[in-house]
Amino acid sequence: MAYYALVPAAGSGSRMHALSGRALPKQYLPLAGQPLIRHALEALCATPAIVEVFVVLAPDDALWPAAAMADLGPKLRVLRCGGDTRAQSVANGLRAMAHELGGEAEIGDDWILVHDAARPCLTVAMVENLIAEVGEDDAGGLLAVPVADTLKRADESGRVHQTVPREGLWQAQTPQMFRHRLLLDALDFAPQVTDEASAIETLGLLPHLVPADASNLKVTYPLDLQLAEWILQSRKAERKQ
Ligand code: C5P
Repeated sequence: MAYYALVPAAGSGSRMHALSGRALPKQYLPLAGQPLIRHALEALCATPAIVEVFVVLAPDDALWPAAAMADLGPKLRVLRCGGDTRAQSVANGLRAMAHELGGEAEIGDDWILVHDAARPCLTVAMVENLIAEVGEDDAGGLLAVPVADTLKRADESGRVHQTVPREGLWQAQTPQMFRHRLLLDALDFAPQVTDEASAIETLGLLPHLVPADASNLKVTYPLDLQLAEWILQSRKAERKQ
């Protein structure tokens, strides 16, 4: 079975715009000297097990920095088929990549690792650990971290309605890896989900939670961008030592 990566990058990053006042979609914001999305694409392209890395852009995306990606090599493929939601972008990408790879009839049991463009601190080691832990289990799996804080559910007035016990709770990250046909069927069946694992769960399967670490953060707010910059620069400094 082959491994492919699929990176949905058709979002507009509205929460980041609202707070930073910057109109650039967050996947293209400058981070450690590169467009933000390039960092995750670099890790995925550098993972030997991954055959190709498909990035899903909005059809009218005029900002894709092709020149800054050129040295990532032939593994990187661009699909201009993003949808209105993340789940739609992933489903469109799964169909389009099948077409690129030889027609929808070919959709089968290959593994697809779906990764947010907005998680720039992914490492090759994290990807390899996910692949090793999931193995050949058809339920697939995802990187995740156990919840550390006490959780509160709010009422409409912003007061605490309930304290939610954190035992057994995990924060889902990406990559999330599932078999190509199963994931497409799951997203067609449950198109309202916010991650791939939820879609698989609606089919009654139980994806593996593979422990990761908090450095694989999702850039949503301006402060996340500063944290990601610090993580990437610290790793670079460590490599130089
Ligand atoms: O907005 P959020 O941070 O949850 O988006 C997660 C990922 O999904 C991002 O990489 C974003 O570009 C992508 N996305 C997409 N199509 C959409 C909305 C989000 O590919 N319509």
